Amino acid sequence: MTVTVYVPRDASALSLGAGEVADAIAKEASARGIDLRLIRNGSRGAFWLEPLVEVVTPKGRVGYGPVAAADVPGLFAADFLNGAQHPLALGIVDEIPWFATQQRLTFARVGIVDPTSVADYVANNGYQGLRRALAMTQQEIVQAILDSGLRGRGGAAFPTGIKWKTVLEQPTDQKYITCNADEGDSGTFSDRMLMEGDPLALVEGMTIAGIAVGATQGYIYLRAEYPHAYRALNEAIQAAYQARYLGNDVMGSGKRFDLEVRMGAGAYVCGEETSMLESLEGKRGEIRVRPPLPAIKGLFGQPTIVNNVMTLGTVPVILHRGAEFYKNFGQGKSRGTLPLQLAGNIKRGGLVERAFGVSLRELLYDYGGGSATGRPIRTVQVGGPLGAYIPASQFDVAIDYEALASIGALLGHGGVVVFDDTVDMARMARYALEFCALESCGKCTPCRIGSTRGVEVIDRILGGVETERNLRQLEELCEVMLQGSLCGLGGMTPFPVSSALKHFREDFRSRTRH
Ligand SMILES: Cc1cc2nc3c(=O)[nH]c(=O)nc-3n(C[C@H](O)[C@H](O)[C@H](O)COP(=O)(O)O)c2cc1C
Ligand code: SF4
Repeated sequence: MTVTVYVPRDASALSLGAGEVADAIAKEASARGIDLRLIRNGSRGAFWLEPLVEVVTPKGRVGYGPVAAADVPGLFAADFLNGAQHPLALGIVDEIPWFATQQRLTFARVGIVDPTSVADYVANNGYQGLRRALAMTQQEIVQAILDSGLRGRGGAAFPTGIKWKTVLEQPTDQKYITCNADEGDSGTFSDRMLMEGDPLALVEGMTIAGIAVGATQGYIYLRAEYPHAYRALNEAIQAAYQARYLGNDVMGSGKRFDLEVRMGAGAYVCGEETSMLESLEGKRGEIRVRPPLPAIKGLFGQPTIVNNVMTLGTVPVILHRGAEFYKNFGQGKSRGTLPLQLAGNIKRGGLVERAFGVSLRELLYDYGGGSATGRPIRTVQVGGPLGAYIPASQFDVAIDYEALASIGALLGHGGVVVFDDTVDMARMARYALEFCALESCGKCTPCRIGSTRGVEVIDRILGGVETERNLRQLEELCEVMLQGSLCGLGGMTPFPVSSALKHFREDFRSRTRH
């Protein structure tokens, strides 16, 4: 009898030796004359268990992890192919509380399926959303997205349905669907994991968007640092063309949708949508002045949807299960679920998908298990390098766009980076300004000059020079950058700096003059 074994091909698992583990399993099986089907899946997102090897048994998929290549002969000797006991055995993976308590909608298939197999995708509810969409009018599809309450997951949380409606209403022949897969925020990896673990979800989401607004061409703008996602996406796109889910007759509907992946060249600012469009057009990644909005005049001057990977990857489940189903998750104006990413100084780092409303504390301690060092968590930065620092006294805040905004923070792309009580917050503030100076596109003065001057001011504070006067100057500079910058890079850099000043002022004042 053939035994099926899963070993992830996800970049995080590969960096921990999943490739060597897969080779060792194939070699050992061949030496023992065992008929083994080895599937390279995406990661389930529990990074501390990677490489997580799963064996299909009559009771379900039994997990072993973290597995090293050297463990493989012992696993065979212990009869792991029948789900036997072993020091690395984790039991039925779906029953581990860390997985069982999650609400995976966008990530429902990640880690479960063979990422580039259309047959496996279809067997796990894939292409049900597109099937439904093809039976609807364009207005009905857009209305379903509006009704679902889906908001852009790239950072700005703009209602996706409104963006789609604007593009639908433009009376031009050529429109584009672009997917922002630049994922430049520190501590974020959900886009990468979906593209590596379930790329067809993104392909299907983009196809639905194309059918909805009348666009026949899509581009995925992928950051250069994601070679594994590049390979997975291209394999998935090729498979979708072969199975006629892409091309000039999508699912026999007579409708066309073509899709290509384009690699970026590694600039944080190219994640900003207008800069991304410039880069897609082959130009230097520099911000465009708005208006006009990309929905009216975007790629090559045509109406264009720019959506994040998570946004487009969530569209299929909304069309398949219905707007009401999706909307029933979440709270307030934050509807649905969010794949949150836990990184930094955390014991159990990884991806947790939960409905909006879960508290930051639950995330950090119930899922994350506290800091990796075992020391108290002093602060977390939520929403990337331009997100605010949240102190431990505010960890009961709900993960929801409005709740975070009410404490001066933002959710961004859902990345949570954890710091213990040894962190120096004056240095973290300096880092934010230094990052901005390095990544600034240079188009506007508050960001281009302000970030460099900001680093100089903090250096004086760090040196204990005229601390109070320089603190005032830093606050004034933050206000100028906040009010005067042309885009979010300069405009949001003040968030980490101001939040560090507000909650951890003692770190700026305790400097000795030298
Ligand atoms: C400096 C900067 C960097 C950004 N980086 C990203 C990114 O890497 N990925 C992304 O989807 N959105 C990023 N955004 C947000 C995009 O401008 C845009 O709002 C988003 O792609 C729209 O898609 P959504 O509505 O699905 O979120 C960035 C914005 C700024 C100001
Ligand atoms: S804020 Fe910075 S990145 Fe944005 S347009 Fe101005 S200089 Fe460019």
